[in-house]
Amino acid sequence: MSTIDPRPSVGITSIGLSLPSLALPLSELAKLRGEDPGKYLYGLGCCEMALCAGDEGVVELATTAAERALARWSGDLQDIGLIAVGTESALDMSRPLSAWVADRLGLRGAVRSYEVKHACYGGTLALKQAAEWQLAGASGGKAALVIAADVALYAPLDPGEPTQGAGAVAMIIEGSLTQRPAVATIDPTSHAWSEPAFDFWRPVGEEFPRVDGPFSLDCYKRGAEHCLTQWIGERTAVDALAELEALCFHVPFPKMVKKAVLHCAEAFGLEESEASDLFSQKVDPTMDWNRHCGNAYTASLWIAVASALAGMTEGCRIAAFSYGSGFGAELLTLTAGSQAAEGPWVDDIETDFARRQTIDAANYELLRGLQMAQTA
Ligand code: HMG
Repeated sequence: MSTIDPRPSVGITSIGLSLPSLALPLSELAKLRGEDPGKYLYGLGCCEMALCAGDEGVVELATTAAERALARWSGDLQDIGLIAVGTESALDMSRPLSAWVADRLGLRGAVRSYEVKHACYGGTLALKQAAEWQLAGASGGKAALVIAADVALYAPLDPGEPTQGAGAVAMIIEGSLTQRPAVATIDPTSHAWSEPAFDFWRPVGEEFPRVDGPFSLDCYKRGAEHCLTQWIGERTAVDALAELEALCFHVPFPKMVKKAVLHCAEAFGLEESEASDLFSQKVDPTMDWNRHCGNAYTASLWIAVASALAGMTEGCRIAAFSYGSGFGAELLTLTAGSQAAEGPWVDDIETDFARRQTIDAANYELLRGLQMAQTA
């Protein structure tokens, strides 16, 4: 006897991305900090970091991403019943960032509006809540607007400084009993792992994060191994990974992702050549945009996912590993929809890369000086 799944097919029906208007090549930062550029370019795998100009910030990034997602969506503002912003760049301890964005968008009325915080994991949590809101039948036929947006800055001279970045990804989440989501279906089952830890944190009132760098690398690798182990289940790792067209990760810096892949491959008993093929074929290509925008915290994973989905054949599957310090991690699986092959959101990235201004070390110092004076 066959059973019919009464649950709607839930997923992403539109994506918009936004990057700020300035970029600093890592070779310039190396010059300023007296480091060999090879450390940043090859040791960390970063090329450029995205930086906000004086009149830009997390609200502008989030709003632009949302406007772009809405502009290429078939519905309109009245069809949105939930706006959730995942961020660790909050402007206020009470007022959610979603209120600033909703204000700019002109979104008000019968709408649930809130902010989600769990370091870089906040955007994924917002997305999962929106998907579960759809699956539970609580949306009343409305769509959710989920935004992951951050501006990542460390104290000047901090070892994390070369990994700085910024960006936003907005996604419209809908459910339907008759149609598959145009961009990607999100599988209802995901695999979470959390351990209370102080690997990266920012006490209330402090401007920059405190980081235990080596410990954060260990936490990230452990989170990835636990989530992937749950997903693999009874299968062999080789069989499970063969199902995927791409494996996306939260990207604090690309070398972290490589370390995690090699760590997991070893734990799963893959041969060295299998591990290296996995990284070069299914993981590394998803980080092309991240290498040029740096760590955009909550947005980093979703920038990699947007890059992986663009150009993908309908029906292909990807996995997305989310990590947030503190720490919480979760592995989601998604299936590309009919619009993925065309990937219209690539325009957002191409537009932003083309118009952004590259600054040198002296201008970076000036910018950081100005930003620190503004927030002092
Ligand atoms: P560090 O200690 O200055 O760097 O900072 P290092 O000395 O470990 O060197 C890095 C790599 O460069 C090494 O390679 C060196 O050998 C190599 P590895 O041994 O790792 O393979 N290297 C060179 N390579 C080529 N040519 C050269 C050269 N010199 C050295 N000349 C650290 C590194 C990651 C600790 C620092 O950047 C940091 O603190 N970053 C912030 C924390 C972070 O990103 N952690 C990642 C996991 S936690 C996470 O993802 C959450 C997060 O996104 C926040 C959130 O959730 O909200 C951060």
